[in-house]
Amino acid sequence: MKIFNQISEMKAFIREQQASGNAVGFIPTMGALHEGHLSMVKRAAKENNIVVVSIFVNPLQFGKPEEADRYPANMEKDLKSAESAGTHVIFHPDVMEMYPEGYKTYIEVKEISDVLCGVKRKGHFIGVATVVLKLLNIVHPDRAYFGQKDAQQAVIIKQMVRDLNMDPEIIVSPTIRENDGLAMSSRNILLSELQRSNAAVMYRSLKKAIELVNKGISDCCRIKSEMEQILTNQANAEVEYISIVEAESLKEVKKIQGKVLVAVAVLFDSIRLIDNVTIEV
Ligand code: PAJ
Repeated sequence: MKIFNQISEMKAFIREQQASGNAVGFIPTMGALHEGHLSMVKRAAKENNIVVVSIFVNPLQFGKPEEADRYPANMEKDLKSAESAGTHVIFHPDVMEMYPEGYKTYIEVKEISDVLCGVKRKGHFIGVATVVLKLLNIVHPDRAYFGQKDAQQAVIIKQMVRDLNMDPEIIVSPTIRENDGLAMSSRNILLSELQRSNAAVMYRSLKKAIELVNKGISDCCRIKSEMEQILTNQANAEVEYISIVEAESLKEVKKIQGKVLVAVAVLFDSIRLIDNVTIEV
């Protein structure tokens, strides 16, 4: 497995690969890799000749610089697990390589960045869109993989790629969960044992939504209030939002119709976790 820290070496390698007809699959990450990330690496290894994983904790998408500094990191373990899942290249630039002095360009995907997680995390999706655009320009993959776990992020990236006539095919991969249903996340290792077991309540609330829809209930107020009850009954879980939106436009819906995204954000003390399910009727 190769490790590149420089944009120029990453680009030169890809140029060579694509000139010789190799398809490139790319998984952008912030490291602390888990099965959610690795499931996409394994899929990319089946669908492409070359798999590139980027590991870059993007300071632009965090509210405060300290949050980026606190982001879990375990490079040695990441390299081992990425390689055994089928990665050929790790792209691991430092902050100055990505945002040198004098950096001035930011990408804003309007409207869909201001809802759900965008309400409380102002500027977060500008940071995400900007870094993903840069990474896609640097790696220029044939296919780039994003997780359904961050559904809003995936919708925003797809919109950006469409709006800016970019080449890569964007593939959204299913959410990988722990045995108790908690969606895997690099942030889960920040949870205490108690918080970790409490956090399973998020998926229980989402399953409740599925159960109600299966029973023929389509009123979103009713569904959200039953979900809220489950979440607020859990000690130390503070609900940031419970939303039911159209899966593509991310517009709030009153009745379940077509394909919707049921999304929650919950704080366990200061640790913020998100999860979602899609429901199609
Ligand atoms: P990160 O949180 O490291 O996630 C990298 C990719 O893994 C994202 O596409 C995310 O949706 C996906 N992912 C995370 N947990 C998952 C799970 N349990 N199941 C399936 N996929 C999962 O998301 C980011 O990094 C950053 O915002 C990034 C896109 C790299 C830009 O900085």
